[in-house]
This record gives sequence, C-alpha cells and structure tokens, in this order.
Amino acid sequence: MAKKTLEDCPPETLADEVVVVRVDYNLPLDKDGEVVDDTRLVRTLPTIQYLVEAGAKAVLLSHLGRPGGRPDPTLSLRPVAGKLEEFLGSPVGFCSVTTGPLAREAVQRMKSGEVLLLENTRFYPEDTRNDPEWAEEIRFGAKLFVNDAFGTAHRAHASTQGIADAVRRSGGDAVAGFLLEQELRFLSDALADPEHPFVAVIGGAKISSKIDVIEALLPAVDRLLIGGAMANTFFKAQGWAVGDSLVEENRIDTARSLMDLAGDKLLLPVDVRTASCITSDAVTRVSACDEVRENEHIGDIGPHTAKHFADVVGGARTLIWSGPMGVFELAPFQSGTFEVARAAASAADRGATVIVGGGDSAAAAVAAGVVDRITHVSTGGSASLALLSGKEMPGVTALSDR
Ligand code: 3PG
Repeated sequence: MAKKTLEDCPPETLADEVVVVRVDYNLPLDKDGEVVDDTRLVRTLPTIQYLVEAGAKAVLLSHLGRPGGRPDPTLSLRPVAGKLEEFLGSPVGFCSVTTGPLAREAVQRMKSGEVLLLENTRFYPEDTRNDPEWAEEIRFGAKLFVNDAFGTAHRAHASTQGIADAVRRSGGDAVAGFLLEQELRFLSDALADPEHPFVAVIGGAKISSKIDVIEALLPAVDRLLIGGAMANTFFKAQGWAVGDSLVEENRIDTARSLMDLAGDKLLLPVDVRTASCITSDAVTRVSACDEVRENEHIGDIGPHTAKHFADVVGGARTLIWSGPMGVFELAPFQSGTFEVARAAASAADRGATVIVGGGDSAAAAVAAGVVDRITHVSTGGSASLALLSGKEMPGVTALSDR
C-alpha cells in the first residue's frame, strides 16, 4: 500500500504516546439507545488492542448520526463506550465533550495502555466544515493519528482529513489502521488485478446511487448482474409495464445507455416476484418481466432469474456484490437475495475472492446466514461505493506516504 499503516509503527515507538484514532462508531441504536449492530466496533478491535498492548494512550474519535453541529443526547457515544468496554475486557473512559479544557484534562490524565472515547465529533459544526483550527485541537498534541474509519473515509471532515493534515504538519504521521488497510486491500487492490471470471452483482433501489459504480466496473467485469428495484427502471426502458413498482422516471435514458454500453455483459432479470402490496404476509405471484400487471408491485427477482444469477455468481473467481435483489427483510421477498448470497458464499468456499459492499448487502449476508463465509464484508456503505467508483477518498489521501 502506498500509504503508511499501523504496521509501520512498531510497538516500542508507541509506549506512553497519545495516539488519536478515528473510528466509525456510527452504529445503529434502538429507541432506548442500545447498540443493535456492533459489527463496525468489533472490526476496530485489532487496531485498539495493538495500541493498548503497546502501552499507548488511545484517544478515540467518532461521529454518530447527523446531529447537524449541535449536541443531541439521543446521539451520544456514551452507550458505545460501554459496548467497547465489554469487548476489550478493560475500562474505557468516556468524555462528554470532544474539545475544550475538559477534554484536554481527560487526555492528560490518561495512563499508558488506556482507552478514552470522546463525545460525537458532529456535535460541533467544525467537524463537517473541516475547520483546520478545530482539527488541531482534536490532535491533543499527538504525533500519531490512526484512521480506522473506512465508513467515513470518503468525507473531507476535520476528524478524517483535517486532523491527518495537522499531524503531518506537526512532523508526525497519519497512518491507516488495520481495518482501513484491510478495506483498501480488498476494495481497491484486489479489484485492480482480478481473477476471472469477474462478476459484479448490483442491486438496491436506485440506479442514481449506483450509476458511477456500474460505469467504473463495466470495463473490468465479465458479467454485471442487476437486481432489486433498480431493475424496474431497466424494464421501463424496454417499454414494459411495471405496475405500481418503484421506477426512477428521470433515469430511464440512463438505463438505456447503460444497456447499450454493457451489451452482453449485462444480465437483467427474466422473471420477478410480485404482490399487490409489499408486506410480510403478502401473497406473491411469479411473472415474466414484461407481464407485470397493473397495481402490482415487484418485490424480488423471480426463481428462474435467481437460479441463473446463482449459477453465474457460483462460477465467479472474483465477485463484488452491492445491493439486495429484493425486499429481503420480508419473508415473501427474500428468496432471490438469499439464493445469490448462498451462491456467493459457495464461490468463496471454492477459493473465489468474494467482496460484499457494506450497508444492505452486508445485512442480507447476515440474514442469509452466510456472512462468515464471505472473503470480505465492507464496513462502509457509501464509502465502498465511492471507492469502487474510483472517487477520491480524502481520509486516505491525507495519510502519510510510505
Ligand atoms: C455511514 O454510515 O455511511 C458512515 O458512518 C458515514 O456517515 P455519513 O453519511 O453521515 O457521513
């Protein structure tokens, strides 16, 4: 990797040093503020444990939600500190502010090997504004900044880019943590020289959010499979009726030009599963794609498509999957997504490199019970799309060069 990573920082150089670590603990919370999915936290443990064992003083920064630059008690990171403590098996300090005298004192009081989580960086407008003075404040004099927040690496914020610049300006180093390094290795390096057949499965609701990634992947892949509600816009582009299904009317031309561009590489569903409403007790019907009835909603790919997609996915040597094939959260519409998920896991079992983009497809791999068999499940939804689309990642660009 062209950027420095934590592996470039031997433990003996870290003892007693303040090390600021940006993590992405933007975790889903329930209405009582309890963490409902701790995956992102668990994936940062190797970085934190490395620092703790080296005797560093690890100061953790994260955002949670989008509080808009002011404190919001429902988006406090305090419950996350408790969760982290459970995993580390040792106390984790929490400071109810991110900057100012209280935060500085909390950092000064830290002892070797301790961990301190500061309050949500987005309680301050300076974070998203990428304010350089504030970035200097959240450095706390550290000479080492570790970015382990892949999910936020596509943002140019004070706690991602600004602080890395500030640390480098001070003569120190800004390096990738183990999670960020792993994400870059799979989502960037592995795809730069993929083993063939290289297959991409793209799903989800909207073409508009995936257009850049489709365009970037098309020249490299052997097959591009489209499912999910975004396929509806492709059906419309062929003049077919889609009943009451979701369609991006303003993307019909985009769908048409993608079909021209992709030629034989593009595989669209041949059948779909429909219902009069998308509910957990819906009575479904399998329909050819050009025979969807008025008032019907498309909720999943059909069984013929699922079988064909699974065959193509199963034969891949490199697979990237981003976006579900249907409304997999509801039992009547889960089979298409689950069949693709199982085929992806089988491909991985046979030695293929299988990469699942974050967000919904990661949740689908969990729901299908195959997540542990996937080669790499990204912790970043939008970040993985940005990286796969070839966009700049300010949180990575700002790190020290090797
Ligand atoms: C995410 O969940 O995608 C990341 O934490 C980034 O969050 P953001 O879109 O609010 O910047």
